[in-house]
Amino acid sequence: MLEKREHWGSSIGFIFAAAGSAIGLGNIWKFPYIAGQNGGGAFVLIYLACIVVVGMPIMLCEMTLGRATQKNPVGAFKALSPNTSHLANLIGVSIIFSGLAMLCFKQFGWSAVLCAVGLLVMFYGWITVGILCIVTPFAILSYYCVVGGWTIGYIYKSFAQEINVGSVAEAGGIFGAFIGNTGLMIGLFLIFLLFSSLIVWGGVRNGIERWSKILMPLLFILLLVIMLRGLSLPGARRGVAFFLKPDFTKLSAEAILIALGHAFFTLSLGMGAMITYSSYISREQNIFLSSLAVVFLDTLVAIFAGLAIFSTVFAMGFNPDAGPSLVFKVLPAVFSSIPLGWLWAGLFFLLLSVAALTSSVSLLEVAVSYFIDERKWSRHKAVLICTLGIVVTGLLSAVSITDWHRIEWLHDWLVKAFNVQSGNFFETIDNLSSNWFLPLGGLGISLFVGWIWGTRKAVKEIRYGSSNFADVHLIALLAGLKDDPSHNDERYHVLTLASLWGIFIRFVAPVAITIAFLWMNIK
Ligand code: PHE
Repeated sequence: MLEKREHWGSSIGFIFAAAGSAIGLGNIWKFPYIAGQNGGGAFVLIYLACIVVVGMPIMLCEMTLGRATQKNPVGAFKALSPNTSHLANLIGVSIIFSGLAMLCFKQFGWSAVLCAVGLLVMFYGWITVGILCIVTPFAILSYYCVVGGWTIGYIYKSFAQEINVGSVAEAGGIFGAFIGNTGLMIGLFLIFLLFSSLIVWGGVRNGIERWSKILMPLLFILLLVIMLRGLSLPGARRGVAFFLKPDFTKLSAEAILIALGHAFFTLSLGMGAMITYSSYISREQNIFLSSLAVVFLDTLVAIFAGLAIFSTVFAMGFNPDAGPSLVFKVLPAVFSSIPLGWLWAGLFFLLLSVAALTSSVSLLEVAVSYFIDERKWSRHKAVLICTLGIVVTGLLSAVSITDWHRIEWLHDWLVKAFNVQSGNFFETIDNLSSNWFLPLGGLGISLFVGWIWGTRKAVKEIRYGSSNFADVHLIALLAGLKDDPSHNDERYHVLTLASLWGIFIRFVAPVAITIAFLWMNIK
């Protein structure tokens, strides 16, 4: 029996859910540490630029695709793809040729992958982008839920006062022992995954929307409390200056790429999460304002999290460039040196796990919606089978962190086939998804909307519910000539928000992503 497509109960419900997807480990765990490693203020500025130039336009693309088709990513591309696309064929042939060229370098694994992808593109055309959107959540969830499990473990450890430590080294020892306990890792991973699955099991309105409306306000309150605590510590100002004062001498070219990749990750772009969530909205919703709201909230949380963490880290005299372990090694030491530290630490890790949970829910929903729409499965069957799939990939990454030797055969095979020398399964899959899958998906989405489906049809869709989006005459508005009749004359080619958006998704975003790719591989 075909189930009727569910819809969000309210506009604000959709915004909470979409913001819940965007705001996650990326904002609170990853953003502060990459900002810390890349020199602080200058990096933050570049990151903001990437959000505006690439993030915002692609966010609007995804929301438009989802609402126009009312389908999961594969369904959306299927519904709007032309029968033949020369651009897709050209891309397919080029991928196959580069696959064949890889043979000369004896890269057999990559060669096979590229040829297979090329054939997929030749065969399915633009629908391949939709297929990529269904594969990516499995890859991301496999490690996202593992880190989600860490956050749960650390909530317990904080309240049990187990991470009351005297130094970063000591906290590092505790963290090492923690992630070295493979059984515990698997257990926590499964608990976190179970929470996510239960929310998705409840459906769009009774599961995702209801929980987002509870968890997102909780997240904001926790974040405000922790930030105010941090900012009120003596010496916090040095941290604020580090985070907000740009010093361009510290900026490397690589930092720009990191900022671009992170813009995708933090806004949940490039894998159809926003396509899926906006397939549950109606044409009354103003998607232009919604996309702005989601981008704004996500950025606000990243900035607040940065302020919270750096003010505290600097006030207590610690180093900001610890990397991925900033949150799990430096923060426990920092919190231990302030009164009632265990309480702040506990609240902080609670904040982190709430943020991670609403994001992993959205990742799971992408895959689930595909099976419901395209395979006509019931929601419960889809949730069950997707969860089982993630259990398998997640176990690999949970085990690979410390017990990589147990699956040595896999490691050997990966090294032989793909020539990946360093990194375990966890790191490889993190790299692969953030630096490849998401930007590739984003590139596909912007090219598709800009050149194949066409900005004309897209803008027509956006106009429903947000009539003023397309028709704000930017130049006339800025010049104070909004009401001047000659500036609204159709003979003038005026710059409207819609035309600006069109230029961004046809040219600016694809070029920026392509340059980033080339750079990453030449380096
Ligand atoms: N945006 C989430 C974060 O910042 C991660 C995510 C990526 C969620 C892609 C869904 C899709 O942590």
